[in-house]
Amino acid sequence: MYLDELFGLNGKVAIVTGGGRGIGQTVAIGLAKAGAKIAIFSRTGADKTVALIEKEGGEAISLLADATIESEVDAAIEKVLERFGSLDIVFNNAGICIHKGTVEASIEEWRQVIDINLTGEYIVARAAGRVMIERGIKGSIVNMASMSGSIVNLPQWQASYNASKAAVIHLSRSLAVEWADYGIRVNSISPGYIATPMSVDTPQELKDVWMPLIPVHRMGDPEELVGAVIYLASSASTYTNGADLIVDGAYTAF
Ligand SMILES: NC(=O)c1ccc[n+]([C@@H]2O[C@H](COP(=O)([O-])OP(=O)(O)OC[C@H]3O[C@@H](n4cnc5c(N)ncnc54)[C@H](O)[C@@H]3O)[C@@H](O)[C@H]2O)c1
Repeated sequence: MYLDELFGLNGKVAIVTGGGRGIGQTVAIGLAKAGAKIAIFSRTGADKTVALIEKEGGEAISLLADATIESEVDAAIEKVLERFGSLDIVFNNAGICIHKGTVEASIEEWRQVIDINLTGEYIVARAAGRVMIERGIKGSIVNMASMSGSIVNLPQWQASYNASKAAVIHLSRSLAVEWADYGIRVNSISPGYIATPMSVDTPQELKDVWMPLIPVHRMGDPEELVGAVIYLASSASTYTNGADLIVDGAYTAF
């Protein structure tokens, strides 16, 4: 009962971008288990995530929306409002990483990473923030950053990714201050290495260098991010605003 008051999301409506697989899928299921109704925004459909949520007794819809295309995001948000009548939580999770040295990577690849990881989160946060402001909703936006926004990974070169995630952390702080008077909170989470399609497909020779650098000697499981997002989305964190919550097995602690 007390935990429900603090962390329960009953009656809340949450958008999860990039929720068709990986961290987005696991967190979407976790938010649904905590009581939220879920709208997945993805480029190719997220029927599997919806089915998994429904199997657990939750409610979810899958909407086609590329996070970098404003008109698609706006149309999907309209559908969320039609179907669920509110918008309280955003987990701004969609992202990509390109492992290439700065000289080898093309400017087009730089733009692609910045467009999805930074501008995409800005577009979704902006569209959701507008709805929250218009309707007087004291919502919570959780932006996906990364420990790469605070440190530089070794040995894989990914300057575009690192720069995009550092910018997400400061975008989150900027929106937290800008929207504080509306009661809208904006925080980021910064995971370390998490075992998902994005990181599992990484060449073994890179991972052989990572592992000894992780103090807990393992990658994280997507499940280990669910509590962090529920905390930031729920009443438990009403005074947590503009924060970056690092969940990295102590990687950045030394
Ligand atoms: N896996 C890790 O180690 C790790 C660590 C720190 C942060 N992250 C971040 O977590 C987020 C999720 O990563 P993941 O590991 O689950 O990767 P993933 O590749 O499994 O999932 C990313 C999802 O985002 C979707 N996506 C990409 N571009 C999109 C767009 N323009 N519009 C809508 N959806 C789009 C993809 O289709 C995919 O479903 C990313 O932002 C990533 O940078 C991951």
